[in-house]
Amino acid sequence: MPIFIPHPIASTTCTFLLNQHHLHIFARTEPPALLCLTSTTCKFTLRGTTSVLGSAAEGHVMSSLEKVLETHSKVVEDGHVQTGELKYRSYAVSTLRGGVGKSTIAFNFAYELSIQRPLLLADMCAQCNLTENLMRDQDPEITVLDTLQPILLGPAFGSIPHDASYRVSKYCDPFKMTKPSYLMPGNAELFAFPSMLYQQLQTAHSQGNKKAVKALLESLRTILDKEAKDKHSEGILMDTSPFYAGGTHIAWAAADAIIIPVRVDEHSID
Ligand SMILES: Nc1ncnc2c1ncn2[C@@H]1O[C@H](COP(=O)(O)OP(=O)(O)OP(=O)(O)O)[C@@H](O)[C@H]1O
Ligand SMILES: [Mg+2]
Repeated sequence: MPIFIPHPIASTTCTFLLNQHHLHIFARTEPPALLCLTSTTCKFTLRGTTSVLGSAAEGHVMSSLEKVLETHSKVVEDGHVQTGELKYRSYAVSTLRGGVGKSTIAFNFAYELSIQRPLLLADMCAQCNLTENLMRDQDPEITVLDTLQPILLGPAFGSIPHDASYRVSKYCDPFKMTKPSYLMPGNAELFAFPSMLYQQLQTAHSQGNKKAVKALLESLRTILDKEAKDKHSEGILMDTSPFYAGGTHIAWAAADAIIIPVRVDEHSID
């Protein structure tokens, strides 16, 4: 369930995303509508969307976009924050375009969400920018890779850590004021993770072992569910790499919804 959001308004968008209606709109739009700030871009986007959906959908999409823009104005001008339950339990911030604000949104969104509920965060990007922002200059002993490897490769590659996440408030002061949130840190070696994953998938597939294929693809979801249960987290948020490197694919498989930052320029929209 993709949710497109514009760049460069990442810092306000994280608050904006708390609007449940916004999340709901994009869940129902196939292909998903693109949320943009300027009216020109909205019209441009609307045309692209309605050419696929047909004119009957135009009224619905336009009124949805108008509501989205109205809420955005409230957020920017009045500091409006919509509270309430999350529509989805787990989110991945992801797009294959680099430098569009994924890690910044993940950080801001993590903070905003943590004010209301305890969160589990996972840094699936080998650049580890979210980990750096949340844990400063720490060098975490246990990373998300240490948890994935034993599941994917077997016990010869280590045992699953009993405690796989770090309390964010110990390292990042703003989180002292929020509900307790935890981070499964990234690891630079995640760069090589896809080849490990695809090799195991290939073996499982060539053996016709559908159960193993499913278990491999859902490995991260399994890990996050366990860790969230252990730490009493009510929501899960992942940051991903701009490439298929890192845990991008399994983050998609683990997420109920994907937040996709989009630059508001013609090439990016194309
Ligand atoms: N709302 C914003 N306004 C201005 N600059 C921003 C905004 N959001 C992010 N940036 C800046 O843009 C740069 C890239 O941001 P960020 O690292 O979050 O992108 P990214 O998509 O995670 O990058 P990568 O694809 O390399 O993981 C950073 O220097 C960040 O400070
Ligand atoms: Mg990043």
